Amino acid sequence: MEKREKWGSRFGFIMAAVGSAVGLGNIWKFPYITGQAGGGAFILIYILLTVLVGFTIILGEIAIGRATRANAFAAFNGIKPGFGFIGILGIIASFVIVSFYSVIGGWILKYLSVYALGGSVKTDGFFTSFVSLPVEPVIWMLVFLAICTLILMRGISGGIEKVSSIMMPLLFILLAAIALRAVTLPGAGAGIEFYLKPDFSKITWDVVVSALGQVFFSLSLGMGTLITYGSYLDSRSDIVKDSVLITVLDTIVSVIAGFAVIPAVFAAGQTPDFGPSLLFVTLPHVFETIPFGHAVGAAFFLLVLFAAVTSAISLMQVVVSFFGETFRIKREAAVFIPFVCCAVIGSVASLSHGILGSISILGKNIFDFLSFFASDILLPIGGMLTCLFIAFVWTTDSACAEIKKGAKHGFKLAAFWSFLIKFVMPVIILIILLRVFGAV
Ligand code: PHE
Repeated sequence: MEKREKWGSRFGFIMAAVGSAVGLGNIWKFPYITGQAGGGAFILIYILLTVLVGFTIILGEIAIGRATRANAFAAFNGIKPGFGFIGILGIIASFVIVSFYSVIGGWILKYLSVYALGGSVKTDGFFTSFVSLPVEPVIWMLVFLAICTLILMRGISGGIEKVSSIMMPLLFILLAAIALRAVTLPGAGAGIEFYLKPDFSKITWDVVVSALGQVFFSLSLGMGTLITYGSYLDSRSDIVKDSVLITVLDTIVSVIAGFAVIPAVFAAGQTPDFGPSLLFVTLPHVFETIPFGHAVGAAFFLLVLFAAVTSAISLMQVVVSFFGETFRIKREAAVFIPFVCCAVIGSVASLSHGILGSISILGKNIFDFLSFFASDILLPIGGMLTCLFIAFVWTTDSACAEIKKGAKHGFKLAAFWSFLIKFVMPVIILIILLRVFGAV
């Protein structure tokens, strides 16, 4: 049997896992939902949930991966035959997320190319008319998928790890520079206040649920990504420390992304009631008004591209390792499975902004439906099943024994972590699901 690949270094693993976590969820979604949902108050709730729910599940998933050294399906089955279906759900989620993610990846490439060539996207209607075109957005989406596929072909340490170790530090530097620029713009003060001033009156039940959904999506939980990445670790790795680092870095990036975006929007005299169109409609207006705006715009879309690529490859690797190991297909061939499937579903998703716009599922167009189905349904279900699996099938004692291997300072929180996994997580996740189905 072929020897299983491994990460080349601890730094490389952390950059890859942070690369998976830091994505459009941080840079595009976090600023706008924070702005809409009570600023500082939302950030506090988000951080609390990240510590309680996010960290707990990250550690559990990495432990499953490292204990079994197998893909998401074989990992569950390896611990207890018959439970591989939890991994299969993750593999399905991965296809679905990559399909809409790469449509956005294509938009990012388009904006990057416009800014890099000195062009402008500021005209009103640029975004809506571009995304509804039948051919060009599909081509950019294919380019995005092709970039990810080429990286995956080079494998774990030669592809994913190398690329993440370069892209992530660059992303941190670019993001910090843009945030510094944004908060020092004249008129940025009002934006900083809007972003940070806690408004507890806006904290409703819905806001708490959306914060929890955001924790799941942003930390790449509930679908086997971290099981897969953890499976390339060896037992000397300190997964307690690594999980803390991944959680902290992902949260820091989200908060800094808010500083990069919201004050700039205020400084440019834009209204704060932005929504999902923030990145592609509101920000380009900002880039028009600041000195060297086009260079800043190019740098900004480059960092968003890094974030999107390192997340998409983590999603695709879940599929590649499953098909590669289950059907003994070589990596160079297995990478074409997510490429082809996501190219097909992604094209349909892209066209749902134009010629296929009249098709609606549960009142949503195909693109919005895919995003809703994966993030609001598949990930929480996957997360709940993973917690129940750890709690009652694998047992928290076995999980803690695995976690303790390699942990330099032991695992002092073992009892608390086990309590969270057994009793708190399933209840919290069930509440999100009931909420999503409109039952609460
Ligand atoms: N965490 C990524 C983001 O914030 C998205 C993602 C979800 C990646 C699930 C992998 C698995 O954009």
